[in-house]
Amino acid sequence: MTPQEIARRFEAARAVAVEAGRVARRYFLRQDPIEIEKKSRQDWTTTADREVEKLIVDGIRSSFPEDGFLGEEGGGSDHDALWVIDPIDGTNNFIRGLTEWCISIAFVVKGTLELGIIHDPMADEFYAARRGEGATRNGTPLQVSGRQNIREAMVGVGFSYRTDVEPHAALIRRLLDAECEYRRAGSGALAMAHIADGRLDGYAELHINSWDILAGIALVREAGGWTSDFLSGDWLTGGNPILAATPGIREALAEVTGVAAAGAPSWLKT
Ligand code: IPD
Ligand code: CA
Ligand code: CA
Repeated sequence: MTPQEIARRFEAARAVAVEAGRVARRYFLRQDPIEIEKKSRQDWTTTADREVEKLIVDGIRSSFPEDGFLGEEGGGSDHDALWVIDPIDGTNNFIRGLTEWCISIAFVVKGTLELGIIHDPMADEFYAARRGEGATRNGTPLQVSGRQNIREAMVGVGFSYRTDVEPHAALIRRLLDAECEYRRAGSGALAMAHIADGRLDGYAELHINSWDILAGIALVREAGGWTSDFLSGDWLTGGNPILAATPGIREALAEVTGVAAAGAPSWLKT
């Protein structure tokens, strides 16, 4: 795909994400009626998740009918030019009226992550990254933090019942032993955006899905950060562990968490 074709998609996806933010915000404020359904343990979906995903897919597809789509709610399959969408990341917050949630859209061409967009409508913060062109928040270029010492760092963590409790609890224990502050704010995607803009210094989760994390990976990389090799194995539909960090604490965080170590166990429940 040519740089011009990718640029056209970047523009279109940004416009669609703004509209998706408006719709999601209305549901969040209960200006539109919302139904909540349980999918599995502490895993929920709502009318808003489904409607926002449909809006994004329909919006992009109307301009690029040849592209493929994989969404958390609607599914999909691999394609040479693939959009990977989480309409609402942080649904558990969303349904409770907590504002830590976002819209996440990524575009992948033959296994290369080209674009990432994360929109936080409640904070009015719109993040966008294009491979080789940097990352921005509301149009301002971003740079990850310059933190060098894990003892002064704050990292995001995430958990889902896709993994066992014990390895997650052990991870938290190791962070605390290393005097590394952590936050589990409930949206992996937004935590990644907050690494890109320097608010957080890293992120660790033992299993995460492609729709949760791809846009965030694009942002962190383009803001000068490091991410573990998420796009390996069955990454698209099976997910992988994720570790992301500002360069100054990368080694220490990898050692403390063990997430990115070669030969690390698969954390996914069997
Ligand atoms: C979840 C959030 C959470 C992360 C989970 C994800 P959802 O996505 O990103 O922070 O820890 O692994 O499943 O269900 O809110 O879209
Ligand atoms: Ca998600
Ligand atoms: Ca979601």
